[in-house]
Amino acid sequence: MHAIVDSTNDIARALAEEGAPEGTAVLAIEQTGGRGRQGRGWISPAGGLWLSIVLRPSLAHDAWPLIGFATGAGAAAAVETVTGAKTQLKWPNDLMLNERKVGGVLVESSGDVAIAGVGINANVLPEALPEGVRAGATTLLASLGRPVDLAALARAVLEQVERFYDLVREGPEAVLDAWRARSFLTGRRVTVAGAQMFEGVAEGIDRAGALLVRTASGVRPVRAADVSIREAGPA
Ligand code: BTN
Repeated sequence: MHAIVDSTNDIARALAEEGAPEGTAVLAIEQTGGRGRQGRGWISPAGGLWLSIVLRPSLAHDAWPLIGFATGAGAAAAVETVTGAKTQLKWPNDLMLNERKVGGVLVESSGDVAIAGVGINANVLPEALPEGVRAGATTLLASLGRPVDLAALARAVLEQVERFYDLVREGPEAVLDAWRARSFLTGRRVTVAGAQMFEGVAEGIDRAGALLVRTASGVRPVRAADVSIREAGPA
């Protein structure tokens, strides 16, 4: 456990380069240079769970995107085990609680190593979140009205990510099905902002983890984009 680091993903990467075995975990109380998806920053004050795991997947490279889905499914299951609160996953891997983002997953890979980073706004006051994301974000503390046991949450994340990561070796379906059972977007009208911008109804994810969006001209697979809900209820 580190006190303050730039990014636990960077520490985990450095350890992996020194030969750290699969499963090596890095936790920090605070990150000053936390990273989110798509080059964004990730504000990481004390009270959150900032955790990275060294993975050395013995998988074909085209199966590596499943690591993100396994990590997301594991993080969601862990929050649920420790708090009893039902969590969902917003494609590609936002952890959602009560319609708001409570955490996220960032898997960074190079060579034979993948670093699975999990960030959960656990015992964080909502005011500590950046103003720009506050409306769509929450923390476990704010949603549950009580602090969670961070050590228990860290243990549960490690256990559950390992469980789903092990399942990846058996093929994509078990992990994708677990992920689909928690899908936040399925059945909802969404706006996709990627290489192109369009609207449609999210239908779930395919075997490669692409989000399927039904539009007037057919179903489009989305591999990289920001997806937002167009309206509050189901489409
Ligand atoms: C996202 O939703 O954009 C992903 C956020 C991932 C944040 C975690 S916190 C632990 C690890 N270290 C980082 O710098 N990022 C990930």
